[in-house]
Amino acid sequence: MSKAKDKPRIVELKPNIYQIRAVRPGSHVYLIKGLWRNVLIDAGMVDNFPNLEACLAEVDLDISQIDLLILTHEHFDHIGATALCFDKVLVAAHRFAANKIHLQDEFVMMNKYFLEAAKPFQADIWLEDGNIIDLGNYLLKVIHTPGHCSGSICLYEPDHKLLFTGDTVLAGGIFSDICPSGSISDYLNSLQNLRSLNIEELYPGHGRISTTPAKDMELVVERAETLLDESKILFEALDTKATFERLFFALRKFSLPKKE
Ligand SMILES: [Fe+2]
Repeated sequence: MSKAKDKPRIVELKPNIYQIRAVRPGSHVYLIKGLWRNVLIDAGMVDNFPNLEACLAEVDLDISQIDLLILTHEHFDHIGATALCFDKVLVAAHRFAANKIHLQDEFVMMNKYFLEAAKPFQADIWLEDGNIIDLGNYLLKVIHTPGHCSGSICLYEPDHKLLFTGDTVLAGGIFSDICPSGSISDYLNSLQNLRSLNIEELYPGHGRISTTPAKDMELVVERAETLLDESKILFEALDTKATFERLFFALRKFSLPKKE
């Protein structure tokens, strides 16, 4: 067996906080074993479900012992496996994400675009900015961070200074594409809000975790500001609808470097 395959797919990051590593191209899943409730953050793609169950078994849990699954946003690579467990687990998402999931809005969820089988499910709890989920040993504060898409949230743990970011900020100051329903100016505003938080570790939906969040935040804000400034210059220079459309769609996919 190769060395890569020997790597455990579940890793304890803090006492009772685990990262279930992504089955690519799906997202990581985070498990928090609370004093009273067990929470998952994101579910990964549909194909991730067997891995998710195997990783939960490593820590003596099965899916029916998960009380709440919080989705960081509505994209297929974060939510797909939810369809296989939403009959056992309460599902929560920001109301802008929950609405799109409810209506199976393929413009935004992008299952078919990435050839992922779209399986319907519903979010039970429609979250708002400022909601707090108290697990006894950890506290999760919902921060609405639109930009990558309109239903993006981050979850902030203020006592331990942790931030679960979904796709909003990745380690190394990487920010994600501006997807349908997203906006670069909303993204910038969300990043400025996040930059004001006291964060020691950043747990993203893709790639490595970060122990240098202040530096990452500085970089990601700088990159978003640069993109916005450069796009203004480019859009000003456009003289035809045809060139506008080409540039418009190119600018929506600009991550530097590509996220894992
Ligand atoms: Fe995403």
